[in-house]
Amino acid sequence: MKILMVCLGNICRSPLAQGILEAKVDSKTITVDSAGTSGHHEGELPDVRSIKIAKDYGLDITNQRSRKFTIADFDKFDLIYTMDDSNYHNVLQLCRTKNDAAKVKMILNETHPGKNLNVPDPYYGGEQGFENVYKMLEEACEIIASKINTP
Ligand code: 4NP
Repeated sequence: MKILMVCLGNICRSPLAQGILEAKVDSKTITVDSAGTSGHHEGELPDVRSIKIAKDYGLDITNQRSRKFTIADFDKFDLIYTMDDSNYHNVLQLCRTKNDAAKVKMILNETHPGKNLNVPDPYYGGEQGFENVYKMLEEACEIIASKINTP
């Protein structure tokens, strides 16, 4: 099973989602990666505020580097979780088939089914925004992991 987390820049939200889910699943059978719909931060480390909040919760995400989402990701991944409705629509626009489209989900529908809630973009805010994002993603990833770990 291969899971991709997607946000805009792949430096704030999706690196946290990747790190949190990776810590909850067996890396021998589950691959977790992340990408951004924009390539604006390609090659960069996660934002220092994401690195810090992850570290506060015992996770090291400094092995990650930002990359842009590509159409080939539809072939490589089974599930594609987007952080907000903008990411969701940008990824859906790249779909080639119904099978591609069926892989794309809003991550907070795991905690709030059918509500299509956004993980708020914390980039222009303060550190509290990152704490808030971390908690939302922790809850969502716990549910994702429990589904994967008990098939
Ligand atoms: P992310 O946050 O999508 O959670 O990685 C952002 C990172 C960078 C920008 C916007 C959002 N930016 O405009 O550069």
